[in-house]
Amino acid sequence: MIGNIDDLLNFTKDLFQKKELKPVFLQVAGVAQYLWNRGWAERNAGNFSINLTGFFHERELDRFSTYPFFPLSKEYPELSRTIFLVSGTGTRMRDMADNPAENLCFVYISDSGSAFHIIGDNHDGDYVKPTSELITHLAIQQQLLQKKSPEKVVLHAHVTELIALTQLAPFKSEEAVNSLLWGMHPETLLFVPDGVGFVPYTLAGTEHIAMETLSKLENHKAVLWEKHGCLAIGNTLHDAFDTLDILAKSAKIYLLCKSTGMEPEGLTPAQLQEIRQTSDK
Ligand code: 13P
Ligand code: ZN
Repeated sequence: MIGNIDDLLNFTKDLFQKKELKPVFLQVAGVAQYLWNRGWAERNAGNFSINLTGFFHERELDRFSTYPFFPLSKEYPELSRTIFLVSGTGTRMRDMADNPAENLCFVYISDSGSAFHIIGDNHDGDYVKPTSELITHLAIQQQLLQKKSPEKVVLHAHVTELIALTQLAPFKSEEAVNSLLWGMHPETLLFVPDGVGFVPYTLAGTEHIAMETLSKLENHKAVLWEKHGCLAIGNTLHDAFDTLDILAKSAKIYLLCKSTGMEPEGLTPAQLQEIRQTSDK
């Protein structure tokens, strides 16, 4: 049942003012600004979801089920009665940085896990709709919950340097791209020891890309989407951004070296081994 529109609007307003969520909104604004500054978020590029279920009481969750709902093409039983902060489809990260509330929405998953309710800022009689990549975000968030993983955030961006690598034939495999990325900077191996997963080109927003990405996240914290972008999971939005940033740094060093007309040396196997041993301690 859909609730009284004035009640819903007031409740939505309170939600965006909720004191406990202030740090989350600040982080959203900060990371959106970084993505824009890095040039990884042209037009509406990039999206994110953050599991905020822990911030709400059962009573508040009941309230979310009175908002307009939309069926999902498949069921996400583990996501029953969970709530996510999700970037709006078509919204710009540079606008998100200035005003998060007008560029994102809350997505609440129904009891059955087969529909979602949108709780958003209803300005001009319309409200922000979730990213077109919602099914990928939900599939990943469900897997994180199933595995009781600490990560609450999924972040996707058009990381230019990484996209450029996926345009180069020698790096279209997990083995090749990880060996390149680890070899370009010691901290890449240190902070991304499991490397990135590689998903061959697939149309975005589809069940197929969701499933391919899900399987890669079994063993990695970040996934490259060939000729499109990168996605990372993290405990916080900053965490996920850091992973993208570290990977981009390695890619950039490689591309800079190549722009001199010379081949970078890369870290030697012995140096890489030394880093692995240090990080195992
Ligand atoms: P949305 O605006 O729908 O989030 O799409 C952006 C994007 O990067 C798609 O891959
Ligand atoms: Zn994209």
